Amino acid sequence: MFNFNFYNPTKIIFGRDRLNELDNLIDKSAKVMILYGGGSVKRFGTLDKVLNALKPRKIIEFSGIEANPQYDTLMKAISIAKEEKVDFLLAIGGGSVMDGTKFVSLGAFYPGDPSELFINEPEANKKTTKAIPLGTVCTLPATGSEMNRGGVICYKDSKLSFHNDLAFPKFSFLDPTLTFTLPEKQIANGIVDTFIHVCEQYITYPNGGRFQDRTSEGILKTLIEIGKKTLVEKENYELRANLVWCATMGLNGLIGAGVPGDWSCHIIGHELTAKFGIDHARTLAIVQPSLWRIRKDKKKDKLVQFAERVWDITNGSDDEKIEKAIVKTEEFFNSLGISTKLRDYDVSKDSIPSVIEGLVEYGKTKLSETGDLTPDIALKILELSY
Ligand code: NZQ
Ligand code: ZN
Repeated sequence: MFNFNFYNPTKIIFGRDRLNELDNLIDKSAKVMILYGGGSVKRFGTLDKVLNALKPRKIIEFSGIEANPQYDTLMKAISIAKEEKVDFLLAIGGGSVMDGTKFVSLGAFYPGDPSELFINEPEANKKTTKAIPLGTVCTLPATGSEMNRGGVICYKDSKLSFHNDLAFPKFSFLDPTLTFTLPEKQIANGIVDTFIHVCEQYITYPNGGRFQDRTSEGILKTLIEIGKKTLVEKENYELRANLVWCATMGLNGLIGAGVPGDWSCHIIGHELTAKFGIDHARTLAIVQPSLWRIRKDKKKDKLVQFAERVWDITNGSDDEKIEKAIVKTEEFFNSLGISTKLRDYDVSKDSIPSVIEGLVEYGKTKLSETGDLTPDIALKILELSY
């Protein structure tokens, strides 16, 4: 196992009907900016509950953060937050709103152009000493953003990420009942996104992280067990509570501590969203199976472990076990209504090279746990996934 630091300061308030506890978590005299997306939080009553809980604090609302949050929109929020001297930011929504709010939090005090936070992350982080504190009410179990230090922003024709300890939410409310209103498509996205977060940290090469491996396998097995059921039984609290907790634990630093991380599936996937507008989770479903097939030799030990321990495949040669596990994973995603083939997303084969150009433009040319996944290999992966 590698040396590591583990730090996660986010307080989780889990369970139904607890939003009134917001009153204990934000200073009574604070001026609070509430950030949300296209209106689901208004439609389903969550915003009203939050406003009630925060009375009599001074509130500013900022709505319209897009799914896949846009830099320009967030710059508007930063300018309002600065002008109004906001003391606290509260995100209500999914990964896009939570990520956008983290960016506003860092950007409001950043001594320079906030785009540096994702364009030149190491240098920008040295200059980042202060941020507006933030909390979240998470309405979509998927990204883990509610308990991590990262975010992803759409900038020009790409999608870029930032990470900073100051971006950890102070607290996050995880009420599974708030996710009952999600359309099936978004629940399926959440299951697949969580599944791939775990795979990015687990299917690399062995380095003796037994706890990390067993915990990853536990999350994957839970997702397989509950995935289809929670799509069908939309208001089954117990099933949904498990999905919510898997999503949070899948990307809060726990299973990734001390082990290698891949993340090439995500980085290639982000370009597919930037170029073709495909939902984040669906880009992962497209890239991951082909990536495994092409990188089979590099990932052999962990792919065999995945086949045996997650999918209970014990017969056949190593190669046969790996292929069966990949097919089982594809079938699982398909059972949730998610295709693993790029051709099913209204994308022409000729446009694949433009995805590679995006990788090159922002220097994403040495991907994976071993830094040897080049744009040429990414091209092969996408061609195989067509
Ligand atoms: O905008 P509204 O009207 O709120 O509708 C949203 C949005 O259209 C809707 N929604 C959210 N909660 C709902 C609901 N509809 C009904 N009931 C509810 N309870 O769902 C739609 C999608 O929301 P979005 O936030 O975009 O989805 P998700 O949570 O999947 O987030 C995706 C974003 O997170 C980034 C992705 O790249 C993408 O930009 N990621 C962030 C990560 C992180 N911070 O660590 C890691 C991930 O790998 C990912 O990259
Ligand atoms: Zn993801």
